[in-house]
Amino acid sequence: MFETIELAPRDPILGLTVAFNEDQRPNKVNLSVGVYQDEHGKTPTLGSVREAERRLAAGPSNKSYLPISGSPGYGEAVQKMVFGEKSPLLAAGRLAGAHTPGGTGGLRVVGDLIHQNFPKATVWLSTPTWPNHAGIFAAAEVPTKTYPYFDQVGNRLDLDAMLAAIRKMPAGDVLLLHGCCHNPTGIDPTAAQWKQIVSAVAERGVLPFMDFAYQGFGDGLETDAVGVREFCQAGTELIVCSSFSKNFGLYRERVGAVTVVCDNASVAKSVQSQINRVIRSNYSNPPAHGAAIVETILGDAALRANWEQELATMRNRINGMRQSFVDALAEKGVPGDYSFITKQRGMFSFSGLSPEQVELLREQYAIYIVGSGRINVAGLTPANLSQVAEAIGAVVGQPA
Ligand code: LMR
Repeated sequence: MFETIELAPRDPILGLTVAFNEDQRPNKVNLSVGVYQDEHGKTPTLGSVREAERRLAAGPSNKSYLPISGSPGYGEAVQKMVFGEKSPLLAAGRLAGAHTPGGTGGLRVVGDLIHQNFPKATVWLSTPTWPNHAGIFAAAEVPTKTYPYFDQVGNRLDLDAMLAAIRKMPAGDVLLLHGCCHNPTGIDPTAAQWKQIVSAVAERGVLPFMDFAYQGFGDGLETDAVGVREFCQAGTELIVCSSFSKNFGLYRERVGAVTVVCDNASVAKSVQSQINRVIRSNYSNPPAHGAAIVETILGDAALRANWEQELATMRNRINGMRQSFVDALAEKGVPGDYSFITKQRGMFSFSGLSPEQVELLREQYAIYIVGSGRINVAGLTPANLSQVAEAIGAVVGQPA
């Protein structure tokens, strides 16, 4: 039977790291996958994470199953981080949710939840978006359509086009938004723009769904939650998928969560039962270790303060690199105004490089970026910055 199986296409993001690892050139630079690197090009395990692991190892061991929705303490810690320490949603019992294996696992749980409960709903994806969004909803047999988001000429959010599209969406459809640090553009709505989006969504009866994978990587944990909080303020239902791969550096531990804001506690109970049903037939219950780390850190004031400091260090390094990158491009005489890079937020910069230029960068200069022109700014270091800027100068046709 397997002889009839065709070779699947390479993943547009993770497949590049496979190719990068196979590349023998000594000066290769990986700016593809969204993984943070420090100024030495290393992906650190955070000190707060190491300390939490030390405490967990010293404490009692339990390898029995977790509940289907994960550890309740973890769930509550996540809800406080997403909705605010004092959010009335918690006390009112209006939240349903679960610990999921990464943000991706959470998105797939939501896909299955939509497919099983709202089979007529379409999920609307921004143009552009993270390429895996389309794959996840296709696998869950949920139809997708796209809405405009990015104004390529102005390097900004095309709010008017986005709002016009929302105002035409059928009630009962689902609008997937990026909570912060839009992947791949790095362009987020301002607080005032979020208000406009929220009222268009509420008027239309569309269900907002936030992919919130980078909380704390934009401007800070609270500031980055402005969009989520605006929806809560407006009293709409809402789905949020969190990921702790980036902000805790727990990529391989697969720690994420899905949280659903419901109208009341009774609805939340039914939604919770459906989430559990989806999970049970998929992976049964979540892996414990990563979530135990997050729960330990968020539950201890000193450890949490330490983690927030480490998160700020990562965020500040990336934002500093944005300016250095713009300066390096100018120094190499690369034509054009790249100052927009400093206004983008999160790990990525949407460079405007064409697929052909991206391929040239990879083939001739051993520099790996995603085909859309997305550069992982968190992979730029003082050691590779000049090399990258020079190569970009060369591929855009100017003498370096
Ligand atoms: C990315 O966009 O590079 C990250 O979210 C990693 C991934 O799984 O694609």
